[in-house]
Amino acid sequence: MHKYQVFVCVNHRTDDACCAASGGKGLLAKCKAEVAALGLEATVVVKPTGCIDRCANGPALVIYEDKALAIVPERYRKFFMQGVMYGPVTQDDIGSLLESHCGHGLSLERLKLSN
Ligand code: FES
Repeated sequence: MHKYQVFVCVNHRTDDACCAASGGKGLLAKCKAEVAALGLEATVVVKPTGCIDRCANGPALVIYEDKALAIVPERYRKFFMQGVMYGPVTQDDIGSLLESHCGHGLSLERLKLSN
């Protein structure tokens, strides 16, 4: 299991602002490319997700750090994970965000959203 799971919102809404309209799919692709460019494939996995309730701050993403012990069964691990939300995140931001949060274990305060 990867230490970090990055979920990039690509949700589309017709009634309000949404990450699909603000570049979520492009950010998802750039995020995957940056993980490879930074050599973080062994510790970081990037996945698309639906709405994470930060629509006005899109494109938004959440990073979960696996703090579970190896003895915890897979299906219970989500209870041991803590998420940090970021947004709006541009394609220019994603490299420094991944490097800081996943490379050095430091959240990037300027893009951090309150949980
Ligand atoms: S549509 Fe992305 S947070 Fe709601």
